[in-house]
Amino acid sequence: MNTRLDPALQAKVDHSVAVLKQAYAEHGVVTFANSLGAEDVVITDLIRCFVPEIEIFSLDTGRLPEETLTLLAKIELRYNFKIKLYYPESASVEAYVTENGINGFYASQAQRKGCCYVRKVEPLQRALAGKKAWITGIRREQAVTRDTVEFSEWDAANQLHKINPLADWTEKEVWSFIKEFALPYNDLHDQHYPSIGCAPCTRAISVGEDVRSGRWWWEDPENKECGLHPAASSLVKPD
Ligand code: ADX
Repeated sequence: MNTRLDPALQAKVDHSVAVLKQAYAEHGVVTFANSLGAEDVVITDLIRCFVPEIEIFSLDTGRLPEETLTLLAKIELRYNFKIKLYYPESASVEAYVTENGINGFYASQAQRKGCCYVRKVEPLQRALAGKKAWITGIRREQAVTRDTVEFSEWDAANQLHKINPLADWTEKEVWSFIKEFALPYNDLHDQHYPSIGCAPCTRAISVGEDVRSGRWWWEDPENKECGLHPAASSLVKPD
């Protein structure tokens, strides 16, 4: 690839493409979990340009910001393909809301995790059924819960390989790539939302705050995961 990227970033891009190609060559039935975040627009671009055989899906939780869905449509148009969408089971959402209320996730961590389970974790299990590996946009720098992620890991919770092609990228590198290739990105990023999940559980951050501080901001950083990415202790590097 011939671009004006900084050579160090170009080396990381080449490595990420190699990781994606190897995942497809080794596992075949590989799928990319696309949250439409900044990392994920980079991975979408790499997949569509270099390994378009890899399937791409999103979990539409039913509480995503409108800006995220607008971006999803833009991406489908730019790359001329459809992102496969998974939705929560309606009966589970109804049961959760009946028991906890429409915004019950603010009441306790257990209730918040219960909502994440219904809206993300269970649909993820359906999305991963029959797959040999999944690809995610997580990076080591993002959180204390992610500082040991590998490019390729065994995901014991979901019983398949987990591939993190941007594991060693910095936030600055993600944005250099987005700008260099004029990739479409979520409008909320320009309104101080570096990390975006469901609308009621995401807010803008202030200068100097941690990138994930706008996610579940009322909880402590050690527990700020929704269940999609279990603790590093349940992941092992494959041989
Ligand atoms: S989260 O688990 O706390 O929400 P984050 O927003 O940082 O995670 O995203 C990390 C990775 O999880 C994304 O790069 C993506 O691979 C996956 N992911 C998170 N949310 C979704 C979603 N709604 N649909 C598909 N993949 C998702």
